[in-house]
Amino acid sequence: MTTPDPARFRASIEQRTATVAIIGQGYVGLPVAMRASEQGFRVVGFDRDETRIAQLRAGHSYVEDVPAEQLAAALARGYLPSSDPDDLAGFDVAVISVPTPLRDGAPDLSYIEAAAHTLATRLTPGALVVLESTTYPGTTEELLRPILEADGRAAGTDFFLGYSPERIDPGSTEWTFVTTPKVVSGVDAASLAAVEAFYGALVDTVVPVASTAEAELVKLLENTFRHVNIALVNELAMFARDLGVDVWSAIDAAATKPFGYMRFTPGPGVGGHCLPIDPSYLAWRVERQLGTRFRFVELANEVNNHMPDYVVQRVAAMLNAQSRAVSGSRILVIGLAYKPGTSDWRESPAMTVVERLHGLGARVRAHDAHVPADVALAAGVERVGCTPDELEAADLVVLLVDHPDLPFDDIAAHAPLVLDTRARLRGRDFRGEVL
Ligand SMILES: NC(=O)c1ccc[n+]([C@@H]2O[C@H](COP(=O)([O-])OP(=O)(O)OC[C@H]3O[C@@H](n4cnc5c(N)ncnc54)[C@H](O)[C@@H]3O)[C@@H](O)[C@H]2O)c1
Repeated sequence: MTTPDPARFRASIEQRTATVAIIGQGYVGLPVAMRASEQGFRVVGFDRDETRIAQLRAGHSYVEDVPAEQLAAALARGYLPSSDPDDLAGFDVAVISVPTPLRDGAPDLSYIEAAAHTLATRLTPGALVVLESTTYPGTTEELLRPILEADGRAAGTDFFLGYSPERIDPGSTEWTFVTTPKVVSGVDAASLAAVEAFYGALVDTVVPVASTAEAELVKLLENTFRHVNIALVNELAMFARDLGVDVWSAIDAAATKPFGYMRFTPGPGVGGHCLPIDPSYLAWRVERQLGTRFRFVELANEVNNHMPDYVVQRVAAMLNAQSRAVSGSRILVIGLAYKPGTSDWRESPAMTVVERLHGLGARVRAHDAHVPADVALAAGVERVGCTPDELEAADLVVLLVDHPDLPFDDIAAHAPLVLDTRARLRGRDFRGEVL
């Protein structure tokens, strides 16, 4: 290979002559592909899931933050969804956005490895590879780099290599891929310059950091911070109730402090692809490398993982107060996604609540207009509308996700008994309790 020329790379970005390959067309990769296409790059959206590729080619977006019109416009500009690795030939920039799940409590980096092998045989001099998947500090240097350096190539000498964590807030219109500052890093100065140039063409603000390990840690710090603070208010909510104090009012009042406080609210647990997983990547790395336990992460996992069971306990207590058992009661669960405004139900605590209630013999019905109708629920759990009839027919309604388009007035007016885990009905006249 020949020495990469940073000036030539920058020119290919500025003049939009670069071909951009995005490996993994999921919640993270598809928005990046759309933005790169909008900015005038030739984009190949590579995914080994042929069903997803067929959907994209047909103009069907399975990611809520990517509207069909945006996908149609990208396709019209030449965006190429593909599961054929040969379509990656000659890429100038490759972004890896593949899953990084936990398997038996340990990081599963096999998807990154597979993506890296796919790219390694197609890597040409002067190209840039950036990892976006969330992972523990050291992955880019220790796992990705050696695979790409096979055949005697060297990062920084023959090609550019970097890491840039994704920060999307699914469902948010205020903070988008473009407006959210993007942390960027490279394995050396030339690589950092290439990563900065590429993302500088896509987003409003780039934030360079000193090393790929630092950028990897940034993402885990952000998510561990959220995880720990949510656990704090969840545990507080359970204690405050027993102490006879309204935790929601206390949180609102604390949030009037203009400095040194950030508002987090209790709920039925944490879900999605980040909080239940990412902090454990960090804890795993700390234990593996330093031989010590990351106690904050362990405690936050314990508290947040307990929340679905706590919700079920509260449901049982509310029914008990009416001389009813969970078994045989008709319970309407509202919300299956892991947070409001999204269709993402992965790791959602609501699914655990549904399973537990069903397991206890409740006649469970579920409503969520965002989560696709074919998502598997426990056998016999029916998906229904949130209608006055359904609300009235339930013995108890559990509000788990306060999607903004829910008919909260109807819920308050028609449900005979509600457990509101999001305090969304506070201030309304309703029969029931908040978490
Ligand atoms: N979803 C989020 O909100 C979010 C936010 C920040 C970071 N992340 C991180 O980004 C990464 C991707 O997450 P996601 O939510 O986009 O996942 P996803 O499951 O929605 O998408 C990943 C895609 O990668 C594809 N894929 C897997 N292996 C592949 C391979 N070898 N070659 C080509 N395609 C392959 C899968 O088929 C899938 O379509 C993860 O590390 C995640 O932790 C996610």
